[in-house]
Amino acid sequence: MPHHRPTLPHRGDISRRNVLQGAVAVGVLGYGGTDPVSSAPIAVEQGGQTSNAKITYIGSRTSRVDGRDKVTGKAKYAGEFNAPNLAYASVVGSTIAKGRIASIDISEAMKIGGVITVLTHENRPAMADTDKAYKDDVAPEQGSPFRPLYDDKIMFCGQPIALVLAESSETARFAASLVRVGYEKVAHVTDIYSKRDDTFALEAPAKPRGDAAKALAASDVRHQGEYYVPIEHHNPMEPYASTVMWDGGGKLTIYDKTQGVQNVHRYVCAIFDLKPEDVRVVSPFVGGAFGSGLRPQYQIVLAVLGARALERSVRVVLTRQQMYSLGYRPAMIQRIELGANTDGTLNAIRHDAITVTSQYEDFYRHETIWSGLLYKAANAEYAHSLARLDLPTSGDMRGPSAATGVYALEAAMDELAVALKLDPLELRLRCYSERDQNTRLPYSSKNLRECYRQGAESFGWDKRSPEPRSMRDGSDLVGWGMATGIWEALQVPITVRIALTANGHAVVSCATSDIGTGTYTIMTQVAADMLGLPLESIDIRLGESTLPQSPVEGGSWIAASVSNGIVTTCKAVREELLRLAKELPNSPLATATPEDVIFSDGMIVSSKDATRAVSIENAMQHASVDRIEQEKTTLFENDGSYAHNTHSAIFAEVKVDEQLGVVRVTRIVSAVAAGRILNVKTAHSQIMGGMVWGIGMALHEETLIDHNFGRIMNANIAEYHVPVNADVHDIEVIFVDEQDEIVNPLGVKGLGEIGIVGVPAAIANAIYHATGKRVRDLPITLDKLQ
Ligand code: MOS
Repeated sequence: MPHHRPTLPHRGDISRRNVLQGAVAVGVLGYGGTDPVSSAPIAVEQGGQTSNAKITYIGSRTSRVDGRDKVTGKAKYAGEFNAPNLAYASVVGSTIAKGRIASIDISEAMKIGGVITVLTHENRPAMADTDKAYKDDVAPEQGSPFRPLYDDKIMFCGQPIALVLAESSETARFAASLVRVGYEKVAHVTDIYSKRDDTFALEAPAKPRGDAAKALAASDVRHQGEYYVPIEHHNPMEPYASTVMWDGGGKLTIYDKTQGVQNVHRYVCAIFDLKPEDVRVVSPFVGGAFGSGLRPQYQIVLAVLGARALERSVRVVLTRQQMYSLGYRPAMIQRIELGANTDGTLNAIRHDAITVTSQYEDFYRHETIWSGLLYKAANAEYAHSLARLDLPTSGDMRGPSAATGVYALEAAMDELAVALKLDPLELRLRCYSERDQNTRLPYSSKNLRECYRQGAESFGWDKRSPEPRSMRDGSDLVGWGMATGIWEALQVPITVRIALTANGHAVVSCATSDIGTGTYTIMTQVAADMLGLPLESIDIRLGESTLPQSPVEGGSWIAASVSNGIVTTCKAVREELLRLAKELPNSPLATATPEDVIFSDGMIVSSKDATRAVSIENAMQHASVDRIEQEKTTLFENDGSYAHNTHSAIFAEVKVDEQLGVVRVTRIVSAVAAGRILNVKTAHSQIMGGMVWGIGMALHEETLIDHNFGRIMNANIAEYHVPVNADVHDIEVIFVDEQDEIVNPLGVKGLGEIGIVGVPAAIANAIYHATGKRVRDLPITLDKLQ
């Protein structure tokens, strides 16, 4: 690959926006007649008893409430729901990257016994013809979303161009191989490097400050480097799948692999002009998501097209190879310039990024935003531009913009530390910032300093010998590297309904998803504590479009949002219970206010005098109330006076075989500050998973395209490498205590993304320390170390 390094032109600026534009998009949803309440702080203290709640389960190591269902196979995924008379589908993908379909011959496929029909752009049922209909909640603002089987235009290799429907999936798949397509090809471009001088500028994520060019020139020490991250593809265990149940008269029940059932619901209703009440989207379990299920993917449209064409139930499951014809982490060329004084004061940061999108939509995140905000530096400047390639639109993958942007920043910081002859951790401490440097806002909480301290101590960082190639273990070179991680603590408007019955059982409902992160479990824990009930008395309903509204599960925002949403609704349930308890003859709580009571062991108890108590059962039975139901929306108004972020400090050890260049990541420690940890066990798994993914990003993951054909050459998990057991050694996760009374009542900041951020840089920096060789292009494969 040619790696020219021309200077990128400087771009304009606008004020900061959310990292995930989804956070903006979801802010305009309606709330279906529920009663929005602001989430006024409730006194909830960790590990103790307050006037409002006795904390038994929140913060505990509660095992997954859905764990048994998952390991026994009872938990069903989108492609596992069955219907009588189900038809099976197979997708035919384009073999060219750009052009048009000149002819499409389905006659041979139709001759196969068991084939019902083959849908193409020529014979498909009607679908919407406006971009608006195809714009899902998290679609890019600019562009025309992809329309499967819409017309003869080919925009990327692997584009779905026909759908074979048959009585079995094997028949459908075989017949799909018999669909004959003639193309008119047009020249395509799939290489970001051949487009690097032909990009278009985006608004910069934050205002420049000071004069970066001047400050760089005046700095004692400068570092400049170009960092590359390749295209990476999602490989969740569960493939993209949709089972569409034909309920009769055009009514549909759709089982879909998605991070947002209501997003899919609106999308399907708009494309097929269906009444909202005629469509139900269900997704009780998701087998891996992390961005892959944020936008409705094309298989859902194909499955609905099939069901409407046949007037029967249809299932579409993509093959592993076809998973590579959808959204991916965009390839990224980043240039970073840093200027410092010999004492380690950072004077200037310059960060330019070129990322990849399709010809038809402008997908981007703010890759450069993190560089400006993380460290104290008086001068900063950013530029971001997009290269249009003949590929599908890029998309979100765990830690979108941060996994990539912070990789470049933190590798560059390591290089600056080397130039300054300063310990890399010491450099971070010298430019530690108590404020978001972009917005100048103080943090609602930031315990990164403690992450550095605890992470370094556990790792043994003080025993590091600074010189590269100075540490050995037999024939292995040993390297120690570190990096900082950062993510935004986002929260979204969410509605929670709770129905409590007189037998002390509560059903908690919200249309959010559990993408495997433990949402069912934390929801159970929070509701149990807030209502003073055991875990077994709480049932969670989620992943269904008819439930109270929730935005997509993404951006690490759901744990904070739904847990505080439960607090809000529980407050209303408790007030109602107290009102009933006060009606008892000679009620021991006659004068109690909601602030005076705690809910514990099925009882409403005075916090002033524990002998004054009424059982929930008693209060409800006496009033002849067998059910209390409350539904509340929590809005998380941000008054703009604080920045909300999560942080981590990562320390990695690598051992590199000196002769072969084989790298093993033998130890990684990540110390994370993310506010209150709702469940130490599931949170640990989240962070550990992110760290493993970070190993993949540093050493393994890379989508390889043959640019002559514009076709992905390693579209399978044999050749697209991800870390396996043998690649993962010691992983230690430390949760640093971080109390945040500002961000939301529970002080929760979210954990989904932060686990990966910084890990690739810590590993890359460790490899430099081991070998003395700086590889800036990911993944760091052994050939690059020769
Ligand atoms: Mo996350 S990449 O917003 O699922």
